[in-house]
Amino acid sequence: MKSTVILISGRGSNMEAIVKANLPIDIRAVIANRPDAKGLGFAAAQGIATAVVDHKAFALREGFDAALAETIGRHRPDYIVLAGFMRVLTEGFIGHFPNRIINIHPSLLPAFPGLHTHRQALAAGVKLHGATVHFVTPRLDHGPIIVQAAVPVLKGDTEDSLAARVLVQEHRIYPMELKWLAEDRLEFMPGDVVQLGGLDVPGQGNNFHLCFPCE
Ligand code: GRF
Repeated sequence: MKSTVILISGRGSNMEAIVKANLPIDIRAVIANRPDAKGLGFAAAQGIATAVVDHKAFALREGFDAALAETIGRHRPDYIVLAGFMRVLTEGFIGHFPNRIINIHPSLLPAFPGLHTHRQALAAGVKLHGATVHFVTPRLDHGPIIVQAAVPVLKGDTEDSLAARVLVQEHRIYPMELKWLAEDRLEFMPGDVVQLGGLDVPGQGNNFHLCFPCE
Protein backbone atom coordinates (compact mmCIF):
# COMPACT_ATOMS: atom_id res chain seq x y z
CA MET A 1 0.00 0.00 0.00
CA LYS A 2 1.24 3.49 -0.85
CA SER A 3 1.87 5.84 2.05
CA THR A 4 1.63 9.60 2.57
CA VAL A 5 2.31 12.38 4.97
CA ILE A 6 -0.07 15.34 4.72
CA LEU A 7 1.15 18.89 5.36
CA ILE A 8 -1.29 21.58 6.49
CA SER A 9 -1.14 25.16 7.73
CA GLY A 10 -4.61 25.87 9.05
CA ARG A 11 -8.18 24.67 8.78
CA GLY A 12 -7.26 21.39 7.08
CA SER A 13 -10.56 20.76 5.31
CA ASN A 14 -8.80 19.17 2.33
CA MET A 15 -6.89 16.86 4.67
CA GLU A 16 -10.19 16.04 6.35
CA ALA A 17 -11.80 15.19 3.00
CA ILE A 18 -8.86 12.91 2.19
CA VAL A 19 -9.03 11.13 5.55
CA LYS A 20 -12.81 10.73 5.35
CA ALA A 21 -12.55 9.21 1.87
CA ASN A 22 -11.10 6.04 3.42
CA LEU A 23 -8.66 5.55 0.59
CA PRO A 24 -6.46 2.49 0.19
CA ILE A 25 -3.51 4.63 1.23
CA ASP A 26 -1.62 4.72 4.52
CA ILE A 27 -1.73 8.25 6.00
CA ARG A 28 1.27 8.10 8.32
CA ALA A 29 1.19 11.62 9.73
CA VAL A 30 -0.27 15.10 9.48
CA ILE A 31 2.37 17.79 9.93
CA ALA A 32 1.69 21.52 10.36
CA ASN A 33 3.99 24.52 10.19
CA ARG A 34 1.86 26.31 12.78
CA PRO A 35 1.12 25.01 16.28
CA ASP A 36 -2.42 26.46 16.10
CA ALA A 37 -3.37 24.74 12.82
CA LYS A 38 -7.00 23.71 13.38
CA GLY A 39 -6.71 20.53 11.32
CA LEU A 40 -4.29 18.96 13.82
CA GLY A 41 -7.17 18.29 16.23
CA PHE A 42 -9.17 16.40 13.63
CA ALA A 43 -6.15 14.30 12.61
CA ALA A 44 -5.29 13.43 16.21
CA ALA A 45 -8.91 12.48 16.91
CA GLN A 46 -8.68 10.06 13.97
CA GLY A 47 -5.66 8.40 15.57
CA ILE A 48 -3.25 9.83 12.98
CA ALA A 49 0.21 10.87 14.22
CA THR A 50 0.62 14.64 14.25
CA ALA A 51 3.64 16.91 14.45
CA VAL A 52 4.43 20.62 14.28
CA VAL A 53 7.51 22.11 12.66
CA ASP A 54 7.01 25.77 13.50
CA HIS A 55 8.45 27.90 10.72
CA LYS A 56 8.78 30.82 13.14
CA ALA A 57 11.52 28.92 14.99
CA PHE A 58 13.81 29.16 11.96
CA ALA A 59 15.59 32.26 10.72
CA LEU A 60 16.13 30.79 7.26
CA ARG A 61 13.82 28.93 4.91
CA GLU A 62 16.55 26.30 4.42
CA GLY A 63 16.60 25.55 8.16
CA PHE A 64 12.85 25.08 8.28
CA ASP A 65 12.86 22.87 5.20
CA ALA A 66 15.65 20.69 6.61
CA ALA A 67 13.72 20.18 9.86
CA LEU A 68 10.55 19.50 7.89
CA ALA A 69 12.32 16.96 5.65
CA GLU A 70 13.68 15.21 8.72
CA THR A 71 10.27 15.01 10.40
CA ILE A 72 8.69 13.74 7.19
CA GLY A 73 11.55 11.28 6.66
CA ARG A 74 10.82 9.52 9.94
CA HIS A 75 7.53 8.35 8.43
CA ARG A 76 9.11 7.18 5.14
CA PRO A 77 6.11 8.21 2.98
CA ASP A 78 5.87 7.48 -0.73
CA TYR A 79 4.10 10.82 -1.25
CA ILE A 80 3.92 14.19 0.47
CA VAL A 81 0.50 15.79 0.14
CA LEU A 82 0.29 19.57 0.56
CA ALA A 83 -3.24 20.37 1.68
CA GLY A 84 -3.56 24.08 2.33
CA PHE A 85 0.14 24.20 3.21
CA MET A 86 1.03 27.87 2.91
CA ARG A 87 4.84 27.80 2.91
CA VAL A 88 6.93 28.01 -0.24
CA LEU A 89 9.35 25.07 -0.25
CA THR A 90 12.98 25.44 -1.31
CA GLU A 91 14.38 23.83 -4.42
CA GLY A 92 16.56 21.65 -2.17
CA PHE A 93 13.52 20.26 -0.37
CA ILE A 94 11.61 19.64 -3.59
CA GLY A 95 14.64 17.96 -5.18
CA HIS A 96 14.72 15.59 -2.24
CA PHE A 97 11.31 14.15 -3.22
CA PRO A 98 11.13 14.26 -7.06
CA ASN A 99 7.57 13.75 -8.35
CA ARG A 100 6.55 12.74 -4.87
CA ILE A 101 5.08 16.04 -3.66
CA ILE A 102 1.52 16.91 -4.63
CA ASN A 103 -0.30 20.17 -4.13
CA ILE A 104 -3.81 21.53 -4.56
CA HIS A 105 -4.12 25.07 -5.86
CA PRO A 106 -7.41 26.99 -5.93
CA SER A 107 -7.38 28.06 -9.59
CA LEU A 108 -7.33 26.52 -13.03
CA LEU A 109 -3.55 26.60 -13.46
CA PRO A 110 -1.61 28.00 -15.22
CA ALA A 111 -4.04 30.88 -14.60
CA PHE A 112 -3.66 32.69 -11.29
CA PRO A 113 -0.64 31.16 -9.56
CA GLY A 114 0.29 32.53 -6.13
CA LEU A 115 -2.02 34.02 -3.53
CA HIS A 116 -5.55 35.49 -3.64
CA THR A 117 -6.61 33.35 -6.57
CA HIS A 118 -10.33 34.08 -6.20
CA ARG A 119 -9.66 37.82 -6.15
CA GLN A 120 -7.48 37.41 -9.24
CA ALA A 121 -10.22 35.44 -11.01
CA LEU A 122 -12.90 38.04 -10.23
CA ALA A 123 -10.64 40.87 -11.38
CA ALA A 124 -9.86 39.08 -14.65
CA GLY A 125 -13.55 38.48 -15.33
CA VAL A 126 -13.09 34.79 -16.15
CA LYS A 127 -16.30 32.82 -16.49
CA LEU A 128 -14.83 29.52 -15.33
CA HIS A 129 -12.60 29.17 -12.30
CA GLY A 130 -11.65 26.11 -10.30
CA ALA A 131 -8.97 24.02 -8.68
CA THR A 132 -5.93 22.06 -9.80
CA VAL A 133 -4.04 19.15 -8.28
CA HIS A 134 -0.45 19.01 -9.53
CA PHE A 135 3.00 17.65 -8.83
CA VAL A 136 5.28 20.18 -7.16
CA THR A 137 8.36 21.41 -8.98
CA PRO A 138 10.68 24.27 -8.01
CA ARG A 139 8.67 26.71 -10.14
CA LEU A 140 5.80 27.75 -7.88
CA ASP A 141 2.37 26.48 -9.01
CA HIS A 142 3.71 25.26 -12.35
CA GLY A 143 4.28 21.51 -11.88
CA PRO A 144 2.65 18.78 -14.01
CA ILE A 145 -1.13 18.98 -13.78
CA ILE A 146 -2.95 15.84 -12.66
CA VAL A 147 -6.60 16.85 -12.37
CA GLN A 148 -8.70 20.01 -12.53
CA ALA A 149 -12.29 20.89 -11.71
CA ALA A 150 -14.07 23.97 -13.02
CA VAL A 151 -16.89 25.99 -11.49
CA PRO A 152 -18.81 28.92 -12.95
CA VAL A 153 -18.14 32.44 -11.78
CA LEU A 154 -21.60 33.85 -11.07
CA LYS A 155 -22.94 37.37 -11.19
CA GLY A 156 -22.56 38.92 -7.74
CA ASP A 157 -19.86 36.49 -6.63
CA THR A 158 -17.53 37.63 -3.88
CA GLU A 159 -14.16 36.14 -3.03
CA ASP A 160 -15.88 34.15 -0.28
CA SER A 161 -18.73 32.78 -2.36
CA LEU A 162 -16.35 31.80 -5.15
CA ALA A 163 -13.89 30.22 -2.69
CA ALA A 164 -16.71 28.16 -1.18
CA ARG A 165 -17.78 26.90 -4.62
CA VAL A 166 -14.20 25.97 -5.51
CA LEU A 167 -13.61 24.29 -2.14
CA VAL A 168 -16.42 21.81 -2.78
CA GLN A 169 -14.54 20.73 -5.90
CA GLU A 170 -11.20 20.62 -4.06
CA HIS A 171 -12.72 18.15 -1.63
CA ARG A 172 -13.87 16.05 -4.56
CA ILE A 173 -10.73 15.99 -6.71
CA TYR A 174 -7.99 15.62 -4.09
CA PRO A 175 -9.24 12.27 -2.70
CA MET A 176 -9.91 11.16 -6.29
CA GLU A 177 -6.34 11.94 -7.29
CA LEU A 178 -4.91 10.10 -4.29
CA LYS A 179 -6.96 7.06 -5.22
CA TRP A 180 -5.35 7.13 -8.67
CA LEU A 181 -1.92 7.35 -7.05
CA ALA A 182 -2.77 4.40 -4.83
CA GLU A 183 -3.83 2.46 -7.91
CA ASP A 184 -0.66 3.44 -9.80
CA ARG A 185 -2.70 4.93 -12.61
CA LEU A 186 -0.78 8.17 -13.19
CA GLU A 187 1.58 8.09 -16.15
CA PHE A 188 4.26 10.62 -17.04
CA MET A 189 4.25 11.29 -20.79
CA PRO A 190 6.99 13.09 -22.74
CA GLY A 191 7.29 16.73 -21.66
CA ASP A 192 6.24 15.77 -18.12
CA VAL A 193 2.58 15.73 -19.03
CA VAL A 194 0.63 13.51 -16.65
CA GLN A 195 -2.13 11.28 -17.93
CA LEU A 196 -4.55 8.98 -16.20
CA GLY A 197 -4.34 5.38 -17.33
CA GLY A 198 -7.55 3.47 -18.02
CA LEU A 199 -9.71 6.60 -18.24
CA ASP A 200 -13.17 5.97 -19.56
CA VAL A 201 -15.73 8.75 -19.76
CA PRO A 202 -18.98 6.87 -20.34
CA GLY A 203 -21.25 8.33 -22.99
CA GLN A 204 -19.21 11.51 -23.35
CA GLY A 205 -16.46 10.56 -25.75
CA ASN A 206 -15.08 13.41 -27.78
CA ASN A 207 -18.23 15.46 -27.38
CA PHE A 208 -17.60 16.13 -23.72
CA HIS A 209 -17.50 19.85 -23.05
CA LEU A 210 -17.95 22.19 -20.18
CA CYS A 211 -18.95 25.76 -20.82
CA PHE A 212 -20.49 28.58 -18.88
CA PRO A 213 -22.54 30.62 -19.59
CA CYS A 214 -24.00 28.49 -22.35
CA GLU A 215 -27.34 28.24 -24.08
C1 GRF B 1 -7.61 25.67 -0.02
O1 GRF B 1 -8.43 26.43 -0.85
C2 GRF B 1 -6.31 25.34 -0.71
O2 GRF B 1 -6.46 25.06 -2.07
C3 GRF B 1 -5.57 26.64 -0.52
O3 GRF B 1 -5.87 27.04 0.78
C4 GRF B 1 -7.12 26.48 1.17
C5 GRF B 1 -6.86 25.65 2.37
O4 GRF B 1 -8.00 25.07 2.89
N1 GRF B 1 -4.17 26.50 -0.80
P1 GRF B 1 -7.96 23.87 3.92
O5 GRF B 1 -6.87 24.18 4.94
O6 GRF B 1 -7.67 22.59 3.18
O7 GRF B 1 -9.31 23.87 4.55
